[in-house]
Amino acid sequence: MLSTELAGVKLKNPTVLASGILGVTGASLSHVAKSGAGAVTTKSISLKERKGHLTPVIATYEHGMVNAVGLSNAGAEETLPEIEFAVKNAGVPVIASIFASTITEFGKVAAAVSKANPHIIEVNISCPNVDDEFGRPFACDPGIAAVVTKKVKKSTNIPIFIKLSPNVHNIGPIAEAVQNEGADGITAINTVGPGMIINIEAATPILTNRVGGVSGPAIKPIAVKCVYEAYKATKLPIIGTGGVTTGRDAVEMIMAGASAAGIGTGVYYRGPEIFSKVSKEIQEFMDKEGYKSINEMRGIAHEE
Ligand SMILES: Cc1cc2nc3c(=O)[nH]c(=O)nc-3n(C[C@H](O)[C@H](O)[C@H](O)COP(=O)(O)O)c2cc1C
Repeated sequence: MLSTELAGVKLKNPTVLASGILGVTGASLSHVAKSGAGAVTTKSISLKERKGHLTPVIATYEHGMVNAVGLSNAGAEETLPEIEFAVKNAGVPVIASIFASTITEFGKVAAAVSKANPHIIEVNISCPNVDDEFGRPFACDPGIAAVVTKKVKKSTNIPIFIKLSPNVHNIGPIAEAVQNEGADGITAINTVGPGMIINIEAATPILTNRVGGVSGPAIKPIAVKCVYEAYKATKLPIIGTGGVTTGRDAVEMIMAGASAAGIGTGVYYRGPEIFSKVSKEIQEFMDKEGYKSINEMRGIAHEE
């Protein structure tokens, strides 16, 4: 049985489309849902429109990807119809991802997207490729992460998941701080870094922004460790994200403590069908090893 639950929201399987990939329109979110995702996440939404960085914004390498999309989006009001479309047509839970540059604005954008009634609001406090504008991501300081959580929690009745950064010594105290302010769950992790890829023929970094967040298979061990630490610190439901490409990767996340596995870069490798393929691979593993449910596997890597 592949069903799982995120703060009372039921998923038919534990695969979740991560924020930033195929998540701009209601139609693309619904398409990914029909391809087998257990839940889908929108690209991060801010209060007002943002242009993002100049292209190229994505560079690939042998072990993953570096991106500096720069959080381009049409703004909350413009995006509401897209979320509403997905909530009506996707047939799976819709997670609206939000971000802001100030604590007050986090509250405002949470209230704005709540009008579209997403099942969960994911609070992106951890994008590493907008450091110059927003200073250190909010996710690197337990105190600031807690204040953002409190603000968003006051601004909506929808369950909130705080998306944490791996770019800290230990994610545990940050997870605990957001739990104490009422977070309903955690998404771990956002991209690592930032990193840089240089085109050696041109003798220059490939990305116009020069640096970008690292994602894909290379970051999986970091993501698994962060999920493990967050589970140990909180027991909140966790969407384990970072380098998940196969069912075995998803099982690793679940054994570390995740209730579901986010998939972003993997969509570039295996297409939108990755969600049904990963679900099938998880089921095959469970059949072979005799596991009956996702919950039975959850966190078992913690047992001594
Ligand atoms: C092209 C691209 C765009 C992304 N945009 C966002 C975003 O808007 N908001 C966000 O919270 N995370 C964003 N992410 C991060 C992913 O949601 C995910 O946390 C990260 O890439 C690790 O997972 P993965 O290895 O499966 O891609 C983006 C990642 C990529 C590759």
